Amino acid sequence: MKCRIIAVLGTRPEAIKLALVIHALRQRSQEFETAVVHTGQHRTMLDHALQFFKIKPDFDLDVMRPNQTLNSLTARVLDTVENACHRFEPNMVLVQGDTTTAFASALAAYYCKIAVGHIEAGLRSHDLYNPFPEEANRRLASVLTEIHFAPTALSRDNLLAEGVPDEKIVVTGNTVIDTLRALSVLPHSWENTPLAGIPDDNSRLVLVTSHRRESLGTDQENMCLALKDLVKQHPDIRVVYPVHLNPNVRATVNALLQNTDRIHLTEPLDYITFVSLLRRCFLVLTDSGGIQEEAPTFGKPVLVLRKLTERPEASQFGMAKIIGMSHEAIVNETSRLLNDAEAYQDMSEGENPYGDGHSSERIVEAVARWHAKKTPLLEADKQFKLAPRPQPRRRKSDAEENARKAAAGKE
Ligand code: UD1
Ligand code: UDP
Repeated sequence: MKCRIIAVLGTRPEAIKLALVIHALRQRSQEFETAVVHTGQHRTMLDHALQFFKIKPDFDLDVMRPNQTLNSLTARVLDTVENACHRFEPNMVLVQGDTTTAFASALAAYYCKIAVGHIEAGLRSHDLYNPFPEEANRRLASVLTEIHFAPTALSRDNLLAEGVPDEKIVVTGNTVIDTLRALSVLPHSWENTPLAGIPDDNSRLVLVTSHRRESLGTDQENMCLALKDLVKQHPDIRVVYPVHLNPNVRATVNALLQNTDRIHLTEPLDYITFVSLLRRCFLVLTDSGGIQEEAPTFGKPVLVLRKLTERPEASQFGMAKIIGMSHEAIVNETSRLLNDAEAYQDMSEGENPYGDGHSSERIVEAVARWHAKKTPLLEADKQFKLAPRPQPRRRKSDAEENARKAAAGKE
């Protein structure tokens, strides 16, 4: 008997991170019957991504409302996902990450006594309000989950510490790296994209995104004012900022940054255009989870606009730095990377610690083995392993630097 799977998605990052899992399930159509449920938590941003990946949802639950509250959104997802489960009768519901779609769909499946597979399980900031409500969503989903697809060894350790049995955890790498690798080989031009109007004048591009609920208001305002100061202080940079469709984000960003010289506000970019911007930019300022994971693939230093992160691997490997949202930190840390070539170089070296491009295959293989009641879910040597951390470059002491300059002067 085929294994019946529902894959649920509702927001842009879920589409990007589930796209290749869905394709991998559909490639094994002798073994799997797969239905895609689109809760519709996001409309425009998700529909763009689905079109790009050629995924047509089997169920479109259309839950998005303007300025939706978390409670009403959760209630609509619970109700509508239950209905989809009754109609499709899956063996497993796959959810991804920490959104309201992911948590509420896991709960709906659990109430229907259907097994839950949680992709990107085990990330923890250990602070219930940072990120809000994602830290709680992810922890709550863990309680309801049958198979935990932990992206890294650290996320596995977090789950073990909470008492999740080892045999229910598979370390897969993050599926976003699968998507990124598949896409980054495609040629792409900025013609006919929102980036077309950005002058090609050798300016260094600073890519900015921000949308977290805990940063709305004062933090977001600080960040905008810091960006204004940065372009004033550094005449050779341009800020490129694709603005999230959340009306609360847009109100602040548009009020403070519209019509500012060398700050380019754009609509959300489709994924391939965004990836090409990521590849071309100089550095990244972001509070996004996914972008923290993607930037190391292209050696782009990330300054994380948060107090803490549930994805500490990049900062542990020296490729990202958590700087918060204060005006001072944003101006100083960005200026440091713009002015100090060695500091920049230090943050742009090393392999991406989040994945190797084979996560989707691992997930689908583990689900097949679970359905066939095989153990282990995936042999240890087939799970994802982080490449060893590169040795940090040793900075020259002042004395060494002076000696180098003196020697260079004599030549
Ligand atoms: C959600 C996720 C967050 C994820 C982010 C990805 C939750 C609680 N949060 O946050 O984890 O990082 O998505 O982007 O699930 N809107 C539109 N059009 C769209 C998308 C959103 O108008 O295409 C509006 C919605 O109507 C809503 C607002 O943006 O008013 C916020 O959307 P919502 O899904 O509630 O939360 P996000 O902040 O986007
Ligand atoms: N992204 C995109 N277009 C944009 C901004 C981001 O396609 O204009 C992609 C980005 O590459 C990443 C994902 O969207 O894969 C991250 O989404 P978001 O920041 O909304 O959510 P988070 O990752 O914080 O949950």
